[in-house]
Formats: sequence, structure tokens, C-alpha cells
Amino acid sequence: MKLENGNLKLAVQKKGRLTEKSLAMLKDCGFDIENYNERLLVTVKNFSLDIIFLRDDDIPEYVQDGVADIGIVGNNVVQEKGAKIEICRYLGFGKCNLLIAVPESAELNSVQELKGKKIATSYPVILKKYLNENNIEANIIEISGSVEIAPSLGVADYICDIVSTGNTLKSNKLKKSFPVFESQAVLISNNNLRNDEIKFDLLKSLLKRIDSVLSAEKSNYLMLNTSQSSLNEVLKIIPALKSPTIMPLADGEMVAIHAVISSDKFWSIEDKLKIAGASGLLLLPINNMIV
Ligand code: PRP
Ligand code: ZN
Repeated sequence: MKLENGNLKLAVQKKGRLTEKSLAMLKDCGFDIENYNERLLVTVKNFSLDIIFLRDDDIPEYVQDGVADIGIVGNNVVQEKGAKIEICRYLGFGKCNLLIAVPESAELNSVQELKGKKIATSYPVILKKYLNENNIEANIIEISGSVEIAPSLGVADYICDIVSTGNTLKSNKLKKSFPVFESQAVLISNNNLRNDEIKFDLLKSLLKRIDSVLSAEKSNYLMLNTSQSSLNEVLKIIPALKSPTIMPLADGEMVAIHAVISSDKFWSIEDKLKIAGASGLLLLPINNMIV
């Protein structure tokens, strides 16, 4: 696949856990992406960006080799492949754990008990590192897919695999044991990208948009009304990230307060605000926050 139209080339997982969330984040960044279904390449209409859809396992290497300039992929895949790339951002979605899972009937109480056991995994590199760090010698059985059926086939005692919702484990009568690696989606870039001035500028502009989406996700816009006499009490309760805006209302006794707060704070202050005299509370999502 050779595309030399000067556009920044971004690799995204073709079909899997990260596909929808990656595209949703790109849309939040303001990119006009349409009709990506079943297509291998989509050109963004309002930015010099081509999105290439690839198997997630191939993304680190393609970015390393410059087939794509940047990519969105799980850090688990990045670490496993050991590709020489740069991690530009941790994206906060696609969180999952690589962990040891055991048959529901088995007891595994300490990491030391992994000694001499057969562990099936698609992540031999990360597992080996984990076992070495814990001074354990075990038998790693490398399997490229459907690792979860290995114990019932008698191929392995335990598995080491990615768990997100836990549904796959449950339907294979397995349970979680020790965590090996915590993962989430990351944005990676080719190491030589900074030598291409035009593309590097495109990356900087894309990162600015991603940062604005990431900060906006952590914040909400709070609006409420209160009387002049309760204003100070109400203000004391609001954990505003920046100084709140206070505006007079048509009823001269009343004012409106607008403030940006952390998303996780609202429900712990809602009652206190009402008791202090706040009314008409509105909590709105923020799409972008330019920092
Ligand atoms: C992992 C893992 C399981 C599934 C677990 O695959 O191998 O199949 O996710 O998810 P759950 O806990 O929500 O059921 P992954 O999405 O990484 O896909 P891939 O290895 O096929 O690329
Ligand atoms: Zn994969």
C-alpha cells in the first residue's frame, strides 16, 4: 500500500475492541470521517489525514517501517511487538488487563505456584518478562488466537490473556488470577516523523485536538442559579477548575453561576449546593477544551 499524497497516515484497528472508540475519538477531534465500513482507507475531508484500517497486531510494525506515520493501538500490542516507535499519548480508552486466568475449579494462591506450569498466551514476550521478574520458570505455550480454550483442551494449565469485560473468561469457565500488564489505547508515531516538517506539523495539530478532547472528557460545565445572599456559600462548594463566571439575572436578586468542574465531582456536591440555595442545576458535557 503506497500513498504519497502528503497526508498524514494514521493506522487504526480494522475490526475489534478499539475500532469504534478510536473513530469516536477522531470524530470528537472534529475530523469528518464517513463510510469507513469495510474500507481499507478513508481520507478525512477536512484535514490532511488518511486513515488506514489494519489488524491491530500489524500496527506497531507498520508505524515503525513508515507504512503508516502514526497509529492507534493497545499498549499491550506495542509492548509485545517491541517495535521501535514513540508513544505520543495515552488515550484513556480501551482499558484492559493482561492477566493469568485459571479454570474455575483451580486454586492459584501465589505467583510462585506458576513454576513448571504450562501457560498458553498470545503475549509470550510480556509474559516471559513477568515470569523473569518474579524468578519463575514456566512453560509458555504460544497460541495466536482463542487462547481461552487451551485449558479445556488440555493444552495448558493456565492462560495469560487480555481481559476487558470478563465475558470471554466466564463463557470458558475461567477466572481471573494475577495481573501481568495494564493496558489502554495509545497513539504511536514513527521515529523519523520529526524529519518531515509538513507531516510533523500535522501531527502537532492532531495532538492539540486530542489533548483538547482528553481534557474535555475529564470536565463538565456546571450552570446554576442562586440568590445574591447565598452566592458566597454556593461559591465555596463549587470545586471550579478556573474562576467561575457570575452573571446577573432579570430578577435582580438572583445570579447565574457557570463553572468548569471535574466530571467526578458533581454527585458529591449536588446536595450541598441545593442546601446552600442553588437551583436550576445543569451539568453539560464539554466537547473540546483548549488548554
Ligand atoms: C482479547 C482477548 C479476548 C477478549 C477478552 O482479544 O483475547 O478474546 O479480548 O475481552 P472480554 O474480557 O471483554 O471478553 P482482543 O480484543 O485483544 O483481540 P485480538 O487479540 O483478536 O486482536
Ligand atoms: Zn489482535
